[in-house]
This record gives sequence, structure tokens and C-alpha cells, in this order.
Amino acid sequence: MEFPFDINHLFSERVTVLDQNLAAGRKSVGREKFAQQLTAPITSASKLQSNRHQLYLLKDGERNGGRGVIVGFLKVGYKKLFLLDQRGAHIEAEPLCVLDFYIADNLQRHGYGLELFDFMLQHKHLEPVLMAYDRPSPKFLSFLSKHYCLTESVPQVNNFVVFDGFFLNRSAAQ
Ligand code: ACO
Repeated sequence: MEFPFDINHLFSERVTVLDQNLAAGRKSVGREKFAQQLTAPITSASKLQSNRHQLYLLKDGERNGGRGVIVGFLKVGYKKLFLLDQRGAHIEAEPLCVLDFYIADNLQRHGYGLELFDFMLQHKHLEPVLMAYDRPSPKFLSFLSKHYCLTESVPQVNNFVVFDGFFLNRSAAQ
């Protein structure tokens, strides 16, 4: 994802975390301009703010003649969900959910997705088995199986996928 301005001026770190404080701070104008240009694939900046989602952006600062490119993004947020455990019992939970995950088409299968996902896990101090996944694509399911051995999902009646281990240490009262 290339932009007609220098990505490195907006984002100094390899991974940047954008959240509800998107508009706050010294770089707000530039960040809003950037967010406006990511129109189709991700939620708008205002939705990011109102829903308290977090967006992790991975850049490669060397590409595009040194102006940098955004390699991909990962959007997460807490959601209150009604889930079924292995026995079919209803459980109310509010896990961190993966809502959107994308690596630029020409850069997929180069390890960027793993780098970004691992960054988020460390940032959140979380194991992937404790998260829920909103309509994961076949590529994402393959990614979760390969890197985190998440293969056995527990059937749900909504669009979210959770895996064996999610319900460990949770009681029906939760
Ligand atoms: N076909 C099948 N599996 C794939 C593919 C593909 N085209 N691309 C990546 N994977 C999986 C495989 O397990 C692959 O391992 P393999 O090459 O040994 O088979 C593994 O991911 C590679 O790991 P990374 O290189 O770290 O992953 P990548 O940088 O490609 O990021 C991602 C993974 C985000 C799923 C990326 O492929 C992508 O953006 N795909 C298109 C969009 C998409 O499907 N996003 C998820 C939507 S669901 C949601 O957001 C909740």
C-alpha cells in the first residue's frame, strides 16, 4: 500500500498502534489524512474512535524509493459475545477479537502477518487461543493453524470462531 506522501514522516516505528486517541497528539492531522486514504479495506477513523478498536499498522520504511509502504494492518477490539462451549452451554464473554487482518497481496506469505500478529499478542499480553475471530478467511485459518496450532474450533451460531482451550478456566457463570 503506497501513498503519495512519506510514510516515514507519519509513522516512525515499524509497527504503529492507532486507537481511540487517533485524533489526539501532535501528528493528528497527518494521521487522519492517512486514515482517510485507507477507505475500502478498513473501518474509518471515526469508527475506530467510537468503537474503541485498535489498529496495528506494519510499515516497511525502505520501499517506495525510501518513502515507505504500509505492508498491512490488524484490527482488534473487545466484543461482548454469546458463545457455546464444547457441551453446548451458553457462555457470555468479552474476548479480544480479531476483526480485520490484511497483508498487501504481493507481500503475503513472507512472514509479515506473523510479525504483526506476534507484535499485537505481546502488546496485549495475550495467547491466541483466548481470542475470538470474526469470520476468518481460509488463509487466516491456515495461518492460525500453522503458527499457533489452532485447528479445533468449537461450533458457534454466530460468525465468530473460537478454538479448543478458549473455555478452559471459564465457568458457566462467566
Ligand atoms: N493460501 C493459503 N494460506 C495462506 C495464504 C494463501 N494464499 N497466504 C497466507 N497463508 C497462511 C498459510 O498458513 C501460510 O503458511 P504456508 O505458506 O506455509 O502455507 C501462512 O499464512 C504464512 O504466514 P505469514 O507469511 O506470516 O502470513 P501473511 O503475511 O500472508 O498474512 C494473512 C496472513 C493476513 C491471512 C494474509 O495472507 C492476507 O492478508 N490474506 C488475504 C486477506 C485475508 O484473508 N485476511 C483475513 C480475513 S479474516 C479476518 O480479518 C478476521
